[in-house]
Amino acid sequence: MKLAFIGIGKVGFALANNLQKSNHEVVIAHNDVTRESVVHAQQQNPNLTVLPVQEAINASDIIFLAIPFRANEEILKPLDFGNKVLVDCTNPVGAGISHGLQSTTSGAEMVQNWAPTARVVKSYTIYGFENLVDSSFPKHTSKPVMLIAGNDLQAKQQVQLLNTDLGFETLDTGNLSQSLHLEHMTLLWVKMVRANGQPNFVWAHLQR
Ligand SMILES: NC(=O)c1ccc[n+]([C@@H]2O[C@H](COP(=O)([O-])OP(=O)(O)OC[C@H]3O[C@@H](n4cnc5c(N)ncnc54)[C@H](OP(=O)(O)O)[C@@H]3O)[C@@H](O)[C@H]2O)c1
Repeated sequence: MKLAFIGIGKVGFALANNLQKSNHEVVIAHNDVTRESVVHAQQQNPNLTVLPVQEAINASDIIFLAIPFRANEEILKPLDFGNKVLVDCTNPVGAGISHGLQSTTSGAEMVQNWAPTARVVKSYTIYGFENLVDSSFPKHTSKPVMLIAGNDLQAKQQVQLLNTDLGFETLDTGNLSQSLHLEHMTLLWVKMVRANGQPNFVWAHLQR
């Protein structure tokens, strides 16, 4: 698939790099090729190309959003996604590792409001980027689970294909409003890491 990344920092690069190595065509969507994150990403993986943001969206099937949550509104509002899939990897995190929107609504629903021409799917938010860099747990037969949410079934199926390439089993939790619970899972995961200092753990999905 043709993939574009708005945000190519820790999360964006981990996903972009692994997906490019799984033979997807990956473009960094950035209006400034001199930014450190863009330069660093291309140094690490010269197969990543760069296009201005709207051009990158136009040229792609799926767009990833991996910038600080506070930057979302300004970045998203002028863009036309033409009904393409927008994967929301962002988390609204507030003071003291609290929900940044006081749990009144999910960040993903805000993203959908700011990008009405996109079909938003929440994914890749419930773990730290370390588990996106390397999703392998060789001592276990179960794959790590990636919980996703979104209103469009076909969009979620496309994200599921990418999850598989990234080494995750997908668990569809339902409509985009479920993202609020995924965002709370993120807070739980981060608080556990703060307590035990170990980011290299994930959840698994076992079903009888
Ligand atoms: N870190 C994690 O473990 C983790 C895990 C899951 C989800 N998340 C979420 O993923 C998102 C990205 O986190 P990250 O850790 O990857 O951040 P990061 O390493 O700081 O990278 C942020 C990226 O966003 C870009 N950016 C920053 N401000 C921007 C703005 N105003 N407009 C456009 N682009 C901007 C940066 O580009 P420039 O170089 O141009 O500034 C950079 O490419 C956040 O919403 C975070 O909550 C993080």
